[in-house]
This record gives sequence, C-alpha cells and structure tokens, in this order.
Amino acid sequence: MYFIEVFWIVYTVIVIGTVYTLQDFDITPSNNEVDPGSTATLNCRVRNRRGECAWLKDGEVVGRISNKFIFEKEPSDGDCSIRIINANLEMDDGYWQCQVTQTSLEDPTLKSEKVKLTVRETPRPPQLEDSTIQIQPGSNFTTKVGQPTKLNCVSRKGNPPAELKWFLEDEEITAMANQTNTTDIEKHKTWQAVSILYYTFQKIHNGKLLRCVALHKGYDTNSRETHARLDLQYPPEIQLEGNPKEEVEEGKSLSLRCLADANPKASIMWKISGHANVHSIKEELTFSPIRRSDSGVYSCRAKNDVGESKELEITVDVIYKPEIRKIEPYPYVSLALYSSTQLICEAAANPEPLYTWLQKLPGEMQAWQERGNDARLIITNITYSFQGRYICEARNYIKGIEYKVQSEEIKLDVTGRPQVITDMTVTKDTVVVEKNEDATISVEFCSDPKPDRVFWEWGSLKLDTGSELARYSAEEYMEIRDRDDCYEARLIIRNVEGSDSRKYTIHIVNFKGEEDYGVTLKVREPVSVSMVIGVAVGCIIVLVVLIVVGLFVLKKHKYLFRRSNGFNPDTESEMGGRRSVDITHNGRAGNAVGAIPPDALYSTPKKQSNKKVENKHYENLKVIPLLLLL
Ligand SMILES: *[C@@H]1O[C@H](CO)[C@@H](O)[C@H](O)[C@H]1NC(C)=O
Ligand SMILES: *[C@@H]1O[C@H](CO)[C@@H](O)[C@H](O)[C@H]1NC(C)=O
Ligand SMILES: *[C@@H]1O[C@H](CO)[C@@H](O)[C@H](O)[C@H]1NC(C)=O
Repeated sequence: MYFIEVFWIVYTVIVIGTVYTLQDFDITPSNNEVDPGSTATLNCRVRNRRGECAWLKDGEVVGRISNKFIFEKEPSDGDCSIRIINANLEMDDGYWQCQVTQTSLEDPTLKSEKVKLTVRETPRPPQLEDSTIQIQPGSNFTTKVGQPTKLNCVSRKGNPPAELKWFLEDEEITAMANQTNTTDIEKHKTWQAVSILYYTFQKIHNGKLLRCVALHKGYDTNSRETHARLDLQYPPEIQLEGNPKEEVEEGKSLSLRCLADANPKASIMWKISGHANVHSIKEELTFSPIRRSDSGVYSCRAKNDVGESKELEITVDVIYKPEIRKIEPYPYVSLALYSSTQLICEAAANPEPLYTWLQKLPGEMQAWQERGNDARLIITNITYSFQGRYICEARNYIKGIEYKVQSEEIKLDVTGRPQVITDMTVTKDTVVVEKNEDATISVEFCSDPKPDRVFWEWGSLKLDTGSELARYSAEEYMEIRDRDDCYEARLIIRNVEGSDSRKYTIHIVNFKGEEDYGVTLKVREPVSVSMVIGVAVGCIIVLVVLIVVGLFVLKKHKYLFRRSNGFNPDTESEMGGRRSVDITHNGRAGNAVGAIPPDALYSTPKKQSNKKVENKHYENLKVIPLLLLL
C-alpha cells in the first residue's frame, strides 16, 4: 500500500508539476499516559493542510465538545492537536487516530497511527496467593525445603498493569517468575497482573522474608509491596552431645543429649540395642550416678511430619572394680590323692578381670604361692602339696590404677595313701656322716588318714617308730608345723661304723595304702697315717718306673709320640678327680694301680675313638707287668 502511495505521489509530481503541493503530516501523535482528571494532549501537525482535521477514538469520530474534546478543524498553522479535558478511564482510555480529509482527488486522506491513550488507574496492592488462597501480608508461608514451590503475586484492577518483582529479603529473584497481564473481568478497562514464582527453597531461607513488589505510577513512591515470612519445613538432622570419649566409671554421672535441627519441631526417641521399646523421648538422658547396668549401645532418632533423621549410636561402657561373684568349691573340699579337680573363681569387673590363684604356703609368714592365672585352677594328679588354703585374686585396671579383690579362702584337703615329700624338705636320699658320729635319717611324709604304722627296715631288721634297738633309735614321728597331715620321722644311729653304710627304708602304712622310701647312709672313715705314707711311697715308685719306662719306650718306639695329637688337660683332671674320690671313699690301697691312669703320661685327643681307648688300655697293660717286676 505504502509503495503504491509513494508511486502515486511521484507520478503526480511528475505529471502535474509544481502547481500543487500535497498536504502531509508534520507531527503524528504518540502513546500517552495520564492521570485521571488531568488534560491529555495528543499532538498532530500537518504541512500544507487543505482538508479538515478529524479525530477517531477506537474507530469512531469524535466531535468537538467544549470542556471535553478541543481541537480545530481547519487550523491555519496546520496544528490539529486535540486536548482531552478531565481525562476519564471509561470515556477516554483507548486508541486514538488523527485524520485529515482530502480536498482533491489527487490529495490523499492523511491517517496517523492509532496511538494508545492510557488513563491511569491505580491497581490494588499486590497480594500473595498460594493457588488462589490469599496469604495475609506478614504471615507465614509454609512449604518444604528442596521441593519446587509455586507462589502467585497478584495485582488487580490497574491500568496499565503493575510490574511485579520478587525479592528474597533484598535479593531479587524475579528471573524465577513469569508475569502475565489479563484484562480484569471485574473492572472494565483494567488489568490483572499475575506473577508466578517458581522456586525451590533451601534451609538457609527459613525465616526470611519473601517480598512481592508492584511497580506502578499510580502508587505513592511508585511501588507497593507485600511479604510473607518463609516457614520452611525439613526433616530432622540430629547430633549427639556428651559423647563420652572414654569409659565412664560407675558412680560418676553422665548425660547424653540428642539435639535435633528440624522444622517443625521433632520428637526424639532413645532406644537401647537389644530392647524393643523406646527408652526415652526426652532430649537429654541423665545418669546420676551411672550404674554398670546402664552399659549399652544407645541410639537416638528424631522424627517430624516431614521425615525422620538417621539413627546415631553411642556406646556407653561403664567400668567398675572387680567383685568376687562365685568361688567354688566353698569353703572346703576333700580330694583323693592323685585325683583331679578344678577350683572356680568368678569375678564381675569391667574391663574383664585378670585372675590369680594363690596357695598359702606353710609357715608363719603370710607367703602365698601362685598356682594359676585363669578363672579356673585345674589340678591334675593331686598330691599332698596341694593341700591347704587357696584364694582367688581378681584385678583390673581403671585409668591405669590397679584394683584388686580377694576371694574367701577355700580349704583343700587331700586324703589317700601316704606320700613321702622330697621337694624342699629334710628328706634326702643319701646321708653322709663321719665314722663314730651320730647319723640322723629324716623323712617327711604326708598321710591322711594318719598312718597306722611307720617302721624302718634295713637288712633283716625292722624297727617301728617310737622304739629303740641297740644303737638304733626310731623316733616317734612328729607333726610338721603348719602342714596339716604331714609328719617327720627320724631314725638316729648313734656312733656309726663303716658297716652301717647301707640303705634304710621307711615304710608308712595307712588305711589307704603304703609308701616306701629308701635313704642311703654313707659312713666316711678317716684315712690313717700309715696308709697315707704307703700310698705316697707307692706313688713315687710308680712315677720313677713310669719315667724309666717312658724313656725306654721313647728310645725304641718313637712312633708313640707321632700318634698322639696333643695333650689334653681336661681328660686328665677328670680322671684324676675320679681317682681321688675312689681313694677317699673306698680307702683301699689295692686300687692304687687303677689310680694312675696311663693318659697321665700319654695324652689323648679330646674326642677319643673306641680304638684309641683300647690302645690306652693296651699301654696300661704294658706298664703293669713292669710295675709288678719292681
Ligand atoms: C505486563 O505488564 C507489565 C507492566 O506494564 C509489563 O512490564 C510486562 O511486560 C507485561 N507482561 C506481559 C506478558 O504482557
Ligand atoms: C514464562 O511463560 C512462558 C510462556 O508460558 C514460558 O515460555 C517461559 O519459559 C516462562 N518462564 C519461566 C521463567 O517460567
Ligand atoms: C601322679 O603323680 C604320682 C607321683 O608323682 C605318679 O606316680 C603318678 O603316675 C601320677 N599319675 C598321673 C595320672 O599322672
């Protein structure tokens, strides 16, 4: 259309020449916004006006009405502008157009763009609406954390529609909203502006203000706002306080707190593992004082309408000193000799106790012997040495300090046939005395029941305790102090002779059986002066002979030296030692031959083979005839 018009203008100019100058818009009206009651002016100015000016509102011609619509039909200066007095929303708000009629066929009719005259209408204050339910200004808006939420802000009956903006406290979040403007059904020519906010709130936003601001020139200071306080709900998150870093001692106090961060307020639930029911619903658990039975794994959990927290566990370990719970068999047990048994001790303690079994040693001193380190003391093959008093000791350590407790005493009694006690007693298997002295042979034994008969026997002789025979005196056996059922029997031989050297056997007989024990008596006879001289002379002679023989052999059989690898003092001293024992014990000169071992001269290597030993004997034999010759 525009193209065709231009073509016609150009055609007219060319065809008709300069005789005619066409009318044309100088100024066209533009959109205008005015307050109600004020005068609105829409400008329209025409160059070379020939036609009449006319105004159309929403397509209809407007008449010139004084005090309302004022414009000139044929202004000489071409100013067709209209003044609309006392602008009114109903009457004046609309699309306006300025037109100029044609006066010749060549002249076009001038038509301006339709422009909008807006008569302002102040909108209602903005309102927050949760899907059409109105939220009172300043009240709470409740929603869940992490859940996409939709909220409307509505500003009704405004012209033009208000511009709606969203703020979270002071932070603008309008970008998360979408505004739509629709004509308000309730009031003609006004708008309803609706902004829908799509937002996912986080926990940090709880309690903050959510504001909707409406911007409109009709408002004082051009804006009005409404707000709601965010009430954001979230499931509980819990944390434990008073978590004991180390064990708690019994008797001290302890408090555990289960703190829940939740909206709405959460309910707390304490449980103890192994118990089905709820232990407490209080935030704080207090143990004052704490008892050992309070030990356990405590768990806390919190719950609200939104959800449930995870469960937190805490182990309470109440530690306490040992206490003896059981001691068995108590207080007395009688056991058969060589039987087996076990003593049981049970202590309550945390941490677990360590046990020690002690047996009271005989004697006045409070000496105890350790017998075991377990709760059970297992005794296999009981002997009289196990008879006596026992205690069990339980101990543990609390913060590095040892706590010890002792049980009552158990008395263990052994019955059976007699038994001779050889460990750490006066009982010896050999007794050595000088000739003419008194010999005492002592034997300790235990017997429960008491022995019926105790007697000594040697050779064809028998001597009951409590009786005497010549030089022999079998004393009445006596109880040993502090050792129940144990006795000492003594056989005293006065003025011993060499012929007393022999074995003396004690026989102990009781109701349950019999025990024998032999003691060897050795009588040492003093060495006589003549014998000493004889031995000395003999030795010298042997020495001389040996030297002579040695030299003789050296001369004739040098090979003897080649065969010996070295001199061995160990071997010699060993042999020499035995020799001296033989002399003192047997005291017989006849043995003097054996007293001079050949290896005193002919040394042998440390490790002698059998062959060498034979060889040695051979040399020995060689020497003997020589000795006899002398
Ligand atoms: C609604 O009206 C406001 C204010 O006049 C404007 O800023 C916005 O662009 C309009 N929105 C739509 C979708 O027309
Ligand atoms: C707003 O609405 C329009 C049309 O319905 C849509 O295309 C646009 O994505 C929306 N914007 C937001 C932020 O939701
Ligand atoms: C018990 O001890 C005695 C003496 O020590 C011994 O003769 C006996 O063989 C032992 N019995 C057992 C079953 O070990």
